[in-house]
Amino acid sequence: MNSKTTQATAVAHPNIALVKYWGKCDVERNIPAVGSLSITLGGLTTTTTVRFDPELEHDVFVLGGRETPKKTERVVACLDRMRRHAGVSHYAVVESDNDFPTAAGLASSASGFAALVVAANAALGAGLEGSELADLACRASGSAPRSLFGGFVELELTPDGPHPTETRQLLEPLAWPLRVQIAVTDPGPKAVGSTEGMLMTELTSPYYPAWVESSAADLADARAAIDRRDFEALADISESSCLKMHAVMMSARPGLVYWNGATVECISRVRELRAKGVPVFFTIDAGPQVKAVCLPEASEGVGRALGDIPGVTSLLESGLGDGARVVGGGRCGKRDDSTSSTPMRENTAGCGASPAVAGSW
Ligand code: PMV
Repeated sequence: MNSKTTQATAVAHPNIALVKYWGKCDVERNIPAVGSLSITLGGLTTTTTVRFDPELEHDVFVLGGRETPKKTERVVACLDRMRRHAGVSHYAVVESDNDFPTAAGLASSASGFAALVVAANAALGAGLEGSELADLACRASGSAPRSLFGGFVELELTPDGPHPTETRQLLEPLAWPLRVQIAVTDPGPKAVGSTEGMLMTELTSPYYPAWVESSAADLADARAAIDRRDFEALADISESSCLKMHAVMMSARPGLVYWNGATVECISRVRELRAKGVPVFFTIDAGPQVKAVCLPEASEGVGRALGDIPGVTSLLESGLGDGARVVGGGRCGKRDDSTSSTPMRENTAGCGASPAVAGSW
């Protein structure tokens, strides 16, 4: 490898699944047990800089300005896989910042690992694209490949293909510019992380096989609803997938309950609003925050209605956004030992996994 320091910065947005994934079919390779379908949230951003430096004696991970040895293991494992691909051995400093609460069910691991693989790929000049990059993101976090793309995104299981999963954009952000109001009911980190929770569910829930079996039909319904821009149908399938995932979590032993009282109040409020004709539905991941997905004209009113609920500590609003992309430094294309880092640039299509498309945020 080049003996000089190389660095790149990437941004990525978290995504929320409308058809959820929970469980792995291969724990070792971190392959999800079911496909999933998500929207990428342009209003929340992770920014990650990766600097490979021949002087370093180990990898360093700085999250939100603090070194975080507890979380370093997954980052190092991801960097090791990328170093193997690129045939390099230098250690790296990874500095990552989220402009939203971390590890609280707001998909910070999805945006975090999407930004990490895109930045490391550019810093190394590894030239990885599409499925290769998505595989590396997936090894780190099953929802991370979806944040490589913008708008509406599907992660499909492809056990007979060259890659175990394939992730693709279904619609660009502006093709159906939904908005999301996120009611934060507890910004602290969750008690049980998703990897542990998934394993516990798979091993102990009697409902787990039914959850896995019913996923393909849910994905087909959601795909069709998106194709028709049918909000009612998307609301129906998204709430069903969300509640089914939480039901299977709760049926583990010990049961996993990620909700608090305000989470339940938010669910009721969203359902009341929809019964009155407001185009809104809810979805909730492995945490107590409620994401209310709505048509643009309903967003303000939905925000006010959720903000009034006791226990809702803050509201975040987002439109749909783009996939992960390089915003500075890096070396695009195949690695070339004769060059060091290139100047800053914005939205470098080809260094990220998805084309740069106009965002709605
Ligand atoms: O990306 P992971 O492995 O931390 O799993 C996240 C799973 C859920 O957010 C609960 C659902 C999903 O599909 O995003």
